[in-house]
Amino acid sequence: MVTDLTKIWISNIDKKAAKVRAMRILKVIKKYHKRPKNILELGVGLGVVLAHFKKYNMYGLDLKKDFIKSAKNIVPNAKLFIQSMHNFKIRNRFDIIFSVHECINEVKPYKNWEATFKSSYNHLNEGGLFIFDMRTKKHLEFLKKQTVKLERNPSGYVYDNTVVKGHKLTWNTIYFKRIKKDLYKIEKDRYSEFVYPVSKVKKSLSKDFKVLEAISFEKGHKVMFVCRKL
Ligand SMILES: C[S@@+](CC[C@H](N)C(=O)[O-])C[C@H]1O[C@@H](n2cnc3c(N)ncnc32)[C@H](O)[C@@H]1O
Repeated sequence: MVTDLTKIWISNIDKKAAKVRAMRILKVIKKYHKRPKNILELGVGLGVVLAHFKKYNMYGLDLKKDFIKSAKNIVPNAKLFIQSMHNFKIRNRFDIIFSVHECINEVKPYKNWEATFKSSYNHLNEGGLFIFDMRTKKHLEFLKKQTVKLERNPSGYVYDNTVVKGHKLTWNTIYFKRIKKDLYKIEKDRYSEFVYPVSKVKKSLSKDFKVLEAISFEKGHKVMFVCRKL
């Protein structure tokens, strides 16, 4: 069953932003891989990013069952799995494994980031790329100072109260879903993310991968790592 919260996520899909995330990955693939065939997205969510990879054999995985169920409608040709990125096991090997929209920040504790790097390494073909983005401390500092606002979105309104404590970021979100004129239903969501120093992450990646680039974007609030399996 698809939950009411997931239905809200579906009605608020930002296709433009998803395309920007996909393009960032496609640009790097073009630069560093000649002819990729099999591509896996970790934390595929509703499949809106993977939908831009139709010329490849598409694979995706996510922890959330109802996200995978919804993603099947958006990327019907993809092979999708309900698994965690830190210990996934898929029979295939991939030329590209990527993750966008800071999914890795939802993985905890840090040893499971390292397990994600290991699992990805084990599922890549030689010369394959592991590409993912993450929030930086600069973004945490920004969120700490941010004023909470009620914002309009396609399903009604959203109130995002982010709490930063040390390297932990907690999203307390309240959705006001429009039922009809002046009548709203409340849905609450709460989850945490963890932000680690770029240097620490680079050190962990370097144990197995050759780190080709750490590309800073969104004014340094995020970093995208591009790594190669040698
Ligand atoms: C912000 S969404 C991004 C979805 C998609 N990548 C996109 O850009 O539209 C983060 C996703 O990561 C998934 N996720 C969080 N922890 C995960 C884990 N340990 N393994 C797999 N997926 C995970 C969540 O369920 C969610 O779908």
